[in-house]
Amino acid sequence: MSDTFEAAVEISRKIEEDLKVNPKKYRVLTGDRPTGRLHIGHYFGSLQNRVRIAEMGIPTMILIADYQVLTDHDAYQEISQNTKQLVIDYLAAGINPEKQDVIIYPHSYVPECNQLMIPFLTLVSNAELSRNPTVKEEIESAGLKNVNAGMYTYPVHQACDILFCKGNVVPVGKDQLPHLEMTRNIAKRFNKKFCLDAGKEGVFPEPQALLSKTPMILGLDGSQKMSKSRGNAIMLSATEDETAKLIKKAKTDAERFITYEPERRPEVANLLMLISLCTGEEPEAIAARIGDGGGGMLKSTLTEALNEKLRPLRDERARLEASPDYIRQVLLTGSQKAREIGIKTLEEVRERMNMVI
Ligand code: TRP
Repeated sequence: MSDTFEAAVEISRKIEEDLKVNPKKYRVLTGDRPTGRLHIGHYFGSLQNRVRIAEMGIPTMILIADYQVLTDHDAYQEISQNTKQLVIDYLAAGINPEKQDVIIYPHSYVPECNQLMIPFLTLVSNAELSRNPTVKEEIESAGLKNVNAGMYTYPVHQACDILFCKGNVVPVGKDQLPHLEMTRNIAKRFNKKFCLDAGKEGVFPEPQALLSKTPMILGLDGSQKMSKSRGNAIMLSATEDETAKLIKKAKTDAERFITYEPERRPEVANLLMLISLCTGEEPEAIAARIGDGGGGMLKSTLTEALNEKLRPLRDERARLEASPDYIRQVLLTGSQKAREIGIKTLEEVRERMNMVI
């Protein structure tokens, strides 16, 4: 695994360089499950990066994986609301589908994407589906006893998400690498079986991961990844007072003097890292400045830095919340554009599979 991980890191590094030189050679596909609002871990880990990519002029699809939510969440009552909240977070952070080459849409609104699921399922085996390490982990951590077939097949659906628009770069964390490998396998197998063997050009690219450079952001408990469900997150939509209260409760340690030692003092290091992500200063320098000020000063520094960093985003967020028609329009326009792309791909797919009547 570590071998292939290193290979993925190397490929990602090369793509990162080439994006600057050949932005139009790429189509970036990224997305989230609509399980709630985004928190600062999402912001520093992926959202800022999406904004950067969109501002570089790289064609970008931002997909809201509403069908995928059904695989492990019972809370379908909130999907529509969560979808709209995600759009608000994206736009508030600087994604702008009117100015950038960005398309935002829920995959349930793009039948052409979903239709690829049927031929794609014939290109993978049951054994492959059941040994996917990320799926296994999700089943375990959600404590699922009766696992629905959607849980095992969602990586194939994820391949549909990526391939229907011929996405070739997918910004993801390490946990999504098995899904990308499956996507590449499906692309390769489709191209071989239906195109190359018949002397035709392949339809699908073999998409690669663009791995985030931001270190994993821990929650305020300092021991696990930040996540809303673990109750250790600061939401982008939190007020300044709520932010201050959450940070006050953050876990630190018994040593007064502040130092940056990620291995030995993970809780303190995480708070320093968050300040660093807000101000751009090195965590070591921040630690040196706080020093004897201790945990109290560490927390007040973070509160101030974070609230200042997020102020424009939060102002914009409030403005967008008051414009539900606009949010809906962004999604409908995005879905329409995604469908136009999907219709073209599906025509090629039909032709290669000898199904044109
Ligand atoms: N599985 C991703 C997650 O849980 C969401 C997702 C669905 C996705 N389809 C995708 C991510 C396609 C990247 C590309 O976060």
